[in-house]
Amino acid sequence: MSLRLIEGGRGHTDAPGLLIHGASQVVTMAGGLRRGAAQGDLAMLDAADVGGPGAPGAPVVACWEGKIVGVGPRDSVEAGLEAHGYSLSRFVRLDADGGVVTPGLVDPHTHLLFAGSRERELVLRQQGAGYMDILAAGGGILSTVAATRHADAETLAAHGRRWLDEMLRHGVTTIEAKSGYGLDLPTELRLLDVAYELGREGPIDIVPTFLGAHAVPAEFRSRPDGTEAYVRSVIEEQLPGVAAQGRARSCDVFCEEGVFTADQSRRILRAAAAYGLAIRLHADELAPSGGAELAAELGALSADHLHVPSDAGLAAMAASASGPTPTVATLLPATTWFLMTDEAAPARRFINAGVPVALGTDFNPGTSPAPNLPLVMTIACLEMKLSPAEALAAVTINAAFAAGVGAEAGSLEPGKLADVVIWRAADVGQLPYWVGADLVDVVVKRGRVVHRRGA
Ligand code: NIG
Ligand code: FE
Repeated sequence: MSLRLIEGGRGHTDAPGLLIHGASQVVTMAGGLRRGAAQGDLAMLDAADVGGPGAPGAPVVACWEGKIVGVGPRDSVEAGLEAHGYSLSRFVRLDADGGVVTPGLVDPHTHLLFAGSRERELVLRQQGAGYMDILAAGGGILSTVAATRHADAETLAAHGRRWLDEMLRHGVTTIEAKSGYGLDLPTELRLLDVAYELGREGPIDIVPTFLGAHAVPAEFRSRPDGTEAYVRSVIEEQLPGVAAQGRARSCDVFCEEGVFTADQSRRILRAAAAYGLAIRLHADELAPSGGAELAAELGALSADHLHVPSDAGLAAMAASASGPTPTVATLLPATTWFLMTDEAAPARRFINAGVPVALGTDFNPGTSPAPNLPLVMTIACLEMKLSPAEALAAVTINAAFAAGVGAEAGSLEPGKLADVVIWRAADVGQLPYWVGADLVDVVVKRGRVVHRRGA
């Protein structure tokens, strides 16, 4: 049975309210996108400042019909609720038991849906094979495409549920999910439809992204003009079909040396924007390929990977960062770790340049079979020197903006979705510190408890 609330309210006839109390710290992340010196601003309410988690002025989070209606000291939130006509008897109380309370995590970059797995590539890469060599030889993404084309919607949905469940247990309440393992219109549409339906099923909200330009499929590779012909087919056949289907909210391209050039990516993304899709890119993952520059030029929601951006690309993103809708740098450190790359993405350079930084898992079968977003925070702290607070902003408010849901998710503020995690830790600094540990006690999605430790 799905616990998901539709449009706030359904299923709340007995107790439409939820009051989360007893927290040591409530990290609100209120105040919008984080950049520069504010990247690590948690907007935190600390019970230690007011006499401890049980004190009258200790921080609480009040939710009503799936949305947040109050965050702040318990005495004033309760008084405010009553003053606005809410009956406190209609709030179920949830004791955080001295734990930290944060917004539900947002994973802004996943390749959730695919068939098969590629554990043999790990061994090949340990023996020295390059990621792009494996792809050029018809393996890598292309082997997942071959398996995915044979998978029906029910098989893909079952796979999706298995990994969504894993993500939920790690505190994730919203994800972006890309297609990109079909590379033909019927399979791409199937992937987008399954992503959309899984989001409706809940509890995790899903933002589907069309990634038809993930690689050039085998049937085009044999042609001398294969890449160009495939780009035309993405623009002229796939995009119109995707737009007519209406499931995708954004369009992504693997803009990378040896995959799609910046010029080809620009053509695809401009066509996508004309259909009203938001824009994001796999940019400068393996070589500087003009991806960061293109993201800034097109006003992309997010530029992702950015492991080796050019100086000009970084400067272009920095220039766009002072505007009202900056492109978010979504960094994916589990990928560089799993690819055994020596250098990490230049996260501190982005932060110093005022570019908002988000973190994602990049969950996929080739470069990041990692559904654990808190572990990604840990890797970001160790490899990219993000502070724990910067990493937490990167998987909440900044990730929500990167996913295109900044107005409804990513922070604990009145009017936003009641997506909340209670952690078994008394200080927020512990979240990335206990490496690989399962610290999630309770996950609340749209005002309902959807995961409880041991349940
Ligand atoms: O983000 N780099 C492109 N796409 C994925 C990997 C996909 C795969 O290897 O299956 C990524 O790393
Ligand atoms: Fe990716």
